Amino acid sequence: MRPALALAILIATASSLAAGPAFTIDASRSAGQVSPKLYGLMTEEINHAYDGGLYAELIRNRAFLDDAKSPAHWSVVSDDASAASIALDPANPLNDKILTSLRLTVTQATKGHPAGVANSGYWGIPVQPKTQYRAALWARAEAGFSGPLTVSIVSDDGRTVFTSAQISGLAAEWKKFEVTLTTGDVAPTAQARFAITLDQPGTVRLGLVSLFPPTWNDRPNGLRKDIMQMLVDLNPKFLRFPGGNYVEGNKIEDRFPWAKTLGPIENRPGHACCWGYRSSDGMGLLEFLEWCEDMHAEPLLAVYAGYSLGGEHVKAGPELEPFVQEALDEIEYVIGDTNTTWGARRTQDGHPAPFNLTHVEIGNEDYFEQAKTYDARYAQISDAIRAKYPQLKLISTTPGSKLDGRKADMVDMHDYSATDEFIKKSRNYGADLNRQVPEIFVGEWAAHEDASARPWDAASWKLPPTPTMKAAIGDGVFMAAMERNSDIIKMQCYAPLLVNVNPGARQWRPDLIGYDALSAYGSPSYYAIQMFSRNVGDEILPVTFSGTSVQGCATRDSQNGEIIVKLVNPELTLQSLPIEIKGVTAFASNATVITLAGNPEDTNSTSHPKNVVPITTTLSGVKPSFTYTLPANSIVVIKLKAHL
Ligand code: AHR
Repeated sequence: MRPALALAILIATASSLAAGPAFTIDASRSAGQVSPKLYGLMTEEINHAYDGGLYAELIRNRAFLDDAKSPAHWSVVSDDASAASIALDPANPLNDKILTSLRLTVTQATKGHPAGVANSGYWGIPVQPKTQYRAALWARAEAGFSGPLTVSIVSDDGRTVFTSAQISGLAAEWKKFEVTLTTGDVAPTAQARFAITLDQPGTVRLGLVSLFPPTWNDRPNGLRKDIMQMLVDLNPKFLRFPGGNYVEGNKIEDRFPWAKTLGPIENRPGHACCWGYRSSDGMGLLEFLEWCEDMHAEPLLAVYAGYSLGGEHVKAGPELEPFVQEALDEIEYVIGDTNTTWGARRTQDGHPAPFNLTHVEIGNEDYFEQAKTYDARYAQISDAIRAKYPQLKLISTTPGSKLDGRKADMVDMHDYSATDEFIKKSRNYGADLNRQVPEIFVGEWAAHEDASARPWDAASWKLPPTPTMKAAIGDGVFMAAMERNSDIIKMQCYAPLLVNVNPGARQWRPDLIGYDALSAYGSPSYYAIQMFSRNVGDEILPVTFSGTSVQGCATRDSQNGEIIVKLVNPELTLQSLPIEIKGVTAFASNATVITLAGNPEDTNSTSHPKNVVPITTTLSGVKPSFTYTLPANSIVVIKLKAHL
């Protein structure tokens, strides 16, 4: 190397080192609009997300259909002076939808020694103090017995009766009975079960048994209040449902059976969910839509597109036609006029007003299909939807595919990566995104801690169900990258959303929100998303980073003149970061700072729900150029009030 060149390189290197880290925001220019629908939620039945989760039903296997061989989750109640037996009784079904019932035969019982049957719920029946539970059961009796039946919530050892009521008037035909059970000032516990007992011999058949605690907005057949509060706190603008793989099912016959999920629960047989258990379908199409309404979020409906997770597909052409019609009917249920067939059905179900549907996704992850038939299936389904509903934006699931010459308005790109990968790719994310059409929907994404523990593998079961602070750092850099590019990334949502943390309940990790029967908690990633989704702004500001591993983004909220800066420090040491904001002459001297920080392995759990949570502080003496010291391994949101 020539000495002059070597000297030049030396000087250049020295000056860039001397220049040190820098973060510049150019508030005099706009890099585009932040999509108003950028932050949403994705949901499906996985990890007991609904049954044993958000859907507030407390009775597990309420229609006795979970196992054709035995009454799973039901057991006999008896003591040394009483006796009973239970058996499935498909010869005496509840109706033409629930094709079985439970026969309870009590052969010995007295007031002091009742006998009957009990349900253990989803890892326990949650007992809360001073709470009203709505119990409903469909029952009939054999000649000679008309009641009473005692329904109660009792401790697992049978010694404590938390609440009970009696039902009488049983007859030879099926009847529905409803009672309210109210607890006193008891200590919360999930070591409890729901019992139905007789205090004399008799034979009773049960067709369906249901028990609800208070629900969000007091909806019958509604949702768990604590989990709903956490979802509302994320300020979601849309809800992608019902999947994910759940919309496809493992087999074609197990696709989400939306039409069979409508109407009274005693007409819903449920179906095999692709995640290894049976879904009650208590969480039906209308419940999904009302869930959106309750969160002030738009529904983003995924329709079945003729491909199922196990590999089966329906050939485009005449074979696909019934499925195209199914998708059209489903959309009609959501937005059709009350004088259409399915709009009328929605009215009959109690919701005459159409829902605010603007986006429909055709299928899910069809790029996994070996036979590669998506293009023709997409073409056929999208032609039919566009002909009837030209106002809807259609989302394809297969980036880069030609779709037989049809256009998608959006493409769904899923991204599950390790934190280190997200750190690497988020820095320059977007440089190579095609900014023409279609728009991008990141309909599933999440950082996991390292690349070796895949979400469904044994290695992953050793880790807690919800992510650690290390994963939240990966989530933070990726969210900042998406926000910087939200002129083209219009919508995004983390997945999976929910996990019941009891052993055996989960199929995937990490998951955003964990819960058991009694309580729910947010992971560090939950709080990272909350910090981003509650502080969005509407205008993207150009940012440049140099000499630092810190990543981030900046936006302006033109409603209140705020500049919102989001920074992620992936280092295990403090980072002192000079920040320069161009185009602003002065700031109000106090800024609000929200910080989430912790050791990489730190996390939250049911026993330590608030181990890692954001804290809000005030930063004073703010100027257009200032140095901010980010805590080690942290996500920081700084909200500055600009004087332009
Ligand atoms: O989020 C879990 C699963 O991951 C989804 O069901 C599927 O779409 C993806 O492969």
